[in-house]
Parts: sequence; C-alpha cells; structure tokens
Amino acid sequence: MAAGKHFLQFNDFSRSQFDHLFERTRWIKEQFKAYRKYWPLQDRTLVMIFEKASTRTRLSFEAGMQQLGGSAIYLNTRDSQLGRGEPVEDAAQVISRMSDVVMIRTFEQDIVERFASCSRVPVINGLTNEYHPCQILADIYTYIEHRGPISGRTVAWIGDSNNVCNTWLQAAEVFGFNVHVSTPPGYEVEPERAGLYGTDNFEEFADPMAAVRGADLVTTDVWTSMGFEAENEERLRDFADWQVDAEMMAGAKADALFMHCLPAHRGEEVAAAVIDGTQSVVWDEAENRLHVQKALLEYLVLGEVKS
Ligand code: CP
Ligand code: NVA
Repeated sequence: MAAGKHFLQFNDFSRSQFDHLFERTRWIKEQFKAYRKYWPLQDRTLVMIFEKASTRTRLSFEAGMQQLGGSAIYLNTRDSQLGRGEPVEDAAQVISRMSDVVMIRTFEQDIVERFASCSRVPVINGLTNEYHPCQILADIYTYIEHRGPISGRTVAWIGDSNNVCNTWLQAAEVFGFNVHVSTPPGYEVEPERAGLYGTDNFEEFADPMAAVRGADLVTTDVWTSMGFEAENEERLRDFADWQVDAEMMAGAKADALFMHCLPAHRGEEVAAAVIDGTQSVVWDEAENRLHVQKALLEYLVLGEVKS
C-alpha cells in the first residue's frame, strides 16, 4: 500500500515504483483507447490547487480523475482563502479532511513540502519553481513508447536550467541515463537546488551544438518560466543562441526525438521547423500526461493494483 506516500519530486519514487507506474499506464491507456470503463476511484475526490496558470496539468488531472470514476475540484489563489494569507499548514489540514488526494501547482518547493507534512492524504507536485515531476513521468513514458528503454541513452537539454531541467537530472539518476545540459553563462544548473545526489549523470556544455552531439533526445523549454516574468527582456537577449533549430537537431543522432513540455514559443526556444517537424513527439508527450497521471492517482490512492 502506498498510504502516506507523496510525489513531490521525481526521486521520491524508486525505479521499481516507476516500472509499476509505466506498466499500469500502458494498461490504463489501452482501456481509454478502447472506450472501456475503468472506475477504481469511484467516490474519491481530487483537489487541485493552482497558484500559477495551466492548460495541460489542469485538464489531464481533471479529465483523468473523471475517467477513473472520481471527481476533481479546482481551487485557485484568486478566489479562495489561499491567496489571503491562510497558513499552508492550516489549508492542508482542512483540504485533506475532505479529499482523497491533492495536487498543487505553486511557487517555492517548500510550499508543497509544508502542505504535505500536514496532509492526511497523498500530495502531488503539479509544478513548482524547482520541479515538475509529472511532466518527466510523461516524457520518459513517451520516450519508452517510441524508442524502448531510456537507460544508457543521452538526453540533451538546451536552454534554461529550470524546474523541468532539474527534474530531468533527477530522473537521470533514477533511470541511469545521461543529460547533456547547455545553458547561457549565468543560468547553469545548481545541483543542490536540482536535488541531485551525485553528478555522474550530467555534463555541462558551453556550446549547445556540442551538447546535442550523440543525443537520443533533444529537449528544451521556455526561456522565461512562470514567476520570472520580470526577467523576460534580459532572458530574450541572453538565450538568443540557445534556440533548438534544424541545424541543432541535425547535430544529434539521426533518429533523435524532440520534446517540449509546452506551452512553446516558436522562434524563441524552438524553431517551428523542429517542433512541427518529423522528429517532434510533443503531442504524444502532452497526451501521455493524462495516462501517466491516471496511473499515479491509482497508485497513490489504492496502492499497487496488479495488472
Ligand atoms: N506542461 C505543462 O505543465 O503545461 P501547463 O502549464 O499547460 O499545465
Ligand atoms: N518551466 C515552465 C514550465 C511550464 C509548464 C514554467 O515553469 O513556466
């Protein structure tokens, strides 16, 4: 049973827990595609708390919970007491007495950690300034669907060393693959903030063209993440040479995939020819948020369901 278990950062789970989740994802996705009803979470409630905007995360959790037979309630900071200074610990006490699982998208990681420490039910990180574990769960599942095991492969991360990058780095330690990171000067990975135990699985490159050499997967994200909008103008200048374009994709392995968590800005971090090109799997990646998170909800609420 997974009682009391949270998913706050990627390395909260072990390799064998991910193997279980991926096996369940495959089965749950199959049921969905065949229009077969699977309602293990009937009468269960997910509360989703959003302190930042979202399309994919809200939609995939809300639709996912409904498809599992449960219901989802959306709260945001604008029209709840959360934006008016109620302590996060008090909110956790109350919300977790009325629900079976909680998902939070917020600013500092410390907020989800504090919430979880006072919650009676499992808590899922739906993105913080530091991490985006549900995204990388979907990304790795998508990689495996297209190319098989990711262990031993090379992922090139081009651009900002943000929440999504940090989570790739944690995943590299769990799954045993390599990440080549190339950021502009001043935006390098901060290993402690990334929550890394060792540094064996990642290498930094000043030149993005050197980072993509030998890569099986090239991935990037916006230059300005939510919460950092004040730095936008400066970032547009600093990141100008870190756009993933056709030349950069040509520097990776011939069968390399391209991923982006979305939303994307064509002409900034990625060229239209790449994100809309044949190597891009961004729509599968987005869809898989739904399927992996349904497996995650099942696991956190019911424990290890046998396939
Ligand atoms: N990738 C992702 O988390 O998208 P949203 O911000 O739309 O949820
Ligand atoms: N790094 C981006 C991801 C959005 C899904 C952000 O935090 O805004």
